[in-house]
Amino acid sequence: MATETPLILIIVGITGDLAKRKLLPAIAAIHKAGLFPAKFRVLGVTRQSDVSTDDLLSELTDSTYMKEHLSLLTMDVLNTSDYIRLTSELAEIERGWGGAAQRLFYLSVPPLASEAIIEHLGTSGLAAAPDTKLLIEKPFGFDQASAAELVTHIDKHFTSSQVYRIDHYLAKEMAQNLIVFRERNPLFRGTWNKDCIERIEISAIEEIGIEGRSHFYEQTGALRDLVQSHLLQLAALILMPLPQKAELREIPGRRLRALQSLRLSDVEPVRRGQYIGYRDEVRNPSSSVETFVAFTLISDDPFFIGVPVTLMTGKRMGKKATEVRVVYKTFEEKGSNTLVLRLQPNEGVSLSLYFKRPGYTSAVEERTFDFSYASSTSVLAEAYEKVLVDAISGDHDLFVSSDEVLESWRIIAPIQEAWAMSSGDLTLYEPGSDPTVS
Ligand code: BG6
Repeated sequence: MATETPLILIIVGITGDLAKRKLLPAIAAIHKAGLFPAKFRVLGVTRQSDVSTDDLLSELTDSTYMKEHLSLLTMDVLNTSDYIRLTSELAEIERGWGGAAQRLFYLSVPPLASEAIIEHLGTSGLAAAPDTKLLIEKPFGFDQASAAELVTHIDKHFTSSQVYRIDHYLAKEMAQNLIVFRERNPLFRGTWNKDCIERIEISAIEEIGIEGRSHFYEQTGALRDLVQSHLLQLAALILMPLPQKAELREIPGRRLRALQSLRLSDVEPVRRGQYIGYRDEVRNPSSSVETFVAFTLISDDPFFIGVPVTLMTGKRMGKKATEVRVVYKTFEEKGSNTLVLRLQPNEGVSLSLYFKRPGYTSAVEERTFDFSYASSTSVLAEAYEKVLVDAISGDHDLFVSSDEVLESWRIIAPIQEAWAMSSGDLTLYEPGSDPTVS
């Protein structure tokens, strides 16, 4: 990181699942890579007074550095006077360092809480302090209207350059590679269009369930949790016009153009499912929240017009797999080439091709060429490491603009509207099974 500016990372919601599973390990890894300034502190904000830093760091393999650099502040984020305490806590840290620090507020809380916190950060004056940034986790609102309200609300207190809307899928190694792959391989660059591509499938299936996040998931469901954000961002990276001369600053605008061209297919059905056992887990016997969803989009972009783009996600399915599958057109019905870009696990690329089977035969067989990052690179940075590093250094490319957020809600609005009318189409599936084949 180019900066030696002292840094305070304020994580609101430090006791949540995200902080434990992703943020604290990411911070430890960034430290290991030597990318933090010498004057660095994580201030974890929590409502709970009975949590210690030891509790939070219990799962880190090496927590020595974090123990020295993490402190907790118990506060009620809805209480105005608690922001006075927060302000003096920050000032105190800076006084100890003998100068002002960059302050990064990371909101890892549900959307309603985010709104209230943003208001308090604004009215307390914290938002306007120099070198202050706001990082917000998805989901940004519940639908298009609430997202628009949230955008207006944030704009009231923060300038757009202060705001970093996180979609950690954009920071995954293979997601970042999508643009380079398309740009630098003439073979694919020349065939990345409706004339050569039959269909595109983007899927993120998970073995895990909702991991104790009943409250969050009952409000969110698979469509809002993974599709509105992660899968649509991947679709945007696949379909966006390539930036001129890899001009990185153009990327969010290009992703936006791709999203603007997408609409729900009138032909393919939207499918949704819920794993058996979910209702007991969330203690809501009548829950109609989906843990699986699949549907198809069509692009109006002249380069992709008519190419179906299918998105699919599900929890408690047989395995974890996030991938983009580009199925090429066939000639004379003789089998197609499929390019698979694997985001996880085993990040890499595979391509199926046809060959003559060796020997006294003219039979043809399909073979798959495979490249795994694991075979050549020992360490791939976790997405949250990249998110934090880029936000600290002020790089916006891996973050989602407010226009992209609104556009992705626009795309799924017809599904939300239909689901609000009836849940009759929800099917139940066995954990570990594949609802796509039912
Ligand atoms: C999060 C979702 O954004 O992404 C979780 O809220 C999901 O429900 C997670 O499990 C998946 O992320 P990853 O990086 O493990 O694929």
